[in-house]
Amino acid sequence: MKALVIGSGAREHAIVRGLLGDPDVTQVDAAPGNPGIAVVAQCHPLPDLTDGSAVVELARSLGSDLVVIGPEAPLVAGVADAVRAAGIAAFGPSGDAAQLEGSKAFAKDVMAAADVPTARCYVCTSEAEATAALEATGAPYVVKDDGLAAGKGVVVTDSRQDALAHARSCFAAGGTVVVEEFLSGPEVSLFCVTDGTTVLPLAPAQDFKRVGDGDEGPNTGGMGAYSPLPWVPEGLVEEVVTRVAQPTIDEMRRRGTPFCGVLYVGLALTTAGPRVIEFNARFGDPETQVVLARLRSPLGALLRASADGTLDALPPLAWRDEAAVTVVIASEGYPSSPKTGDLIAGLPDSTDEAYLLHAGTRTDAGELVSAGGRVLSAVGVGPSLGAARAAAYRVVDEVRLRGSQHRTDIAQAAADGTLTVPTA
Ligand code: AMP
Ligand code: GLY
Repeated sequence: MKALVIGSGAREHAIVRGLLGDPDVTQVDAAPGNPGIAVVAQCHPLPDLTDGSAVVELARSLGSDLVVIGPEAPLVAGVADAVRAAGIAAFGPSGDAAQLEGSKAFAKDVMAAADVPTARCYVCTSEAEATAALEATGAPYVVKDDGLAAGKGVVVTDSRQDALAHARSCFAAGGTVVVEEFLSGPEVSLFCVTDGTTVLPLAPAQDFKRVGDGDEGPNTGGMGAYSPLPWVPEGLVEEVVTRVAQPTIDEMRRRGTPFCGVLYVGLALTTAGPRVIEFNARFGDPETQVVLARLRSPLGALLRASADGTLDALPPLAWRDEAAVTVVIASEGYPSSPKTGDLIAGLPDSTDEAYLLHAGTRTDAGELVSAGGRVLSAVGVGPSLGAARAAAYRVVDEVRLRGSQHRTDIAQAAADGTLTVPTA
């Protein structure tokens, strides 16, 4: 099987790495890829990731058997539809099905129809409605831009003024706003691979969304992740599949817009049980870096079975017993104004237990320089979360990038056994 991976982040680097480890995958290409991916696979220019005909043309010229679409923007733009219409297998939902991520109001409507536990919400199209909704929910306020906002759409705040200001800015941009009840409790990301009917959960992971240690500072795309989660209640994955993922997938099929690919279920474990915070229509970044590090089953076969509708025939997934931790190295000024163009040095050689995945990097006159907010993902694998943490941070410590920042507490509480789920 020849696979083409669309995207340029550390998530796509992890996917490429996973596919290369599948003996039935004979060739991996990426578009546009990044300098880290280019070391192990062929990268091809793709100026516009949402250009379905360009992706089809590239896949045809490469003889790709499977196109794996990493980010949300091409999915929402219907790139998977274009690939499938050309007779090539695609991993990822149709544009219509990707509305589960593309519109928070749509996702809430599906959740209500499928009786999925989630935060109470108000869909608002005017300032008056938003004001009334904030009054109804009370603080802390949760205000979400309805559409794709590249991680900048959600404001969680105790300030009514800031909450209303965010709603106003969404209305000014012509958008709809979702105001919802605040959910309290540790967060879990569960990726459910599906072919539109069968749901296959992967190992749960936890992401660290805030930029600073101790969950201080603004939200980011994600500053680190780990798996497994020794602290989650037994049976959580089964409960989430039964109460959330399967009913959602069944509802999407019932609506005539079957969802295949990855349903990313973002949850808060509240005293009342798991509640959905958000759906995404793709693998999460940086959780993918740790989940795929632990997956022993062949990745190509899994993604292909999702695309072909044959997940029910796949043998049960096998996992490494080891833990995995990833720490994101971000540029100075991230997330508000990331500084780019700085030299990156000190990259250690990869081993199976400690390696770097590239995200915001590019080569400039033969030198590796920073090219985005999240620059690199250091991954460590080890017999315990503590060992995996140590391996990841050893890699982080070797990398030299002026002004770079990273969190020092990724997986710390879980490794120390101090993280607990609140009970009623
Ligand atoms: P989202 O883009 O929906 O994942 O939101 C980004 C982050 O905002 C989440 O990971 C949560 O940390 C936080 N968040 C979103 N919705 C809620 C909610 N209803 N209650 C508490 N925190 C939330
Ligand atoms: N890790 C969060 C996301 O991928 O949206």
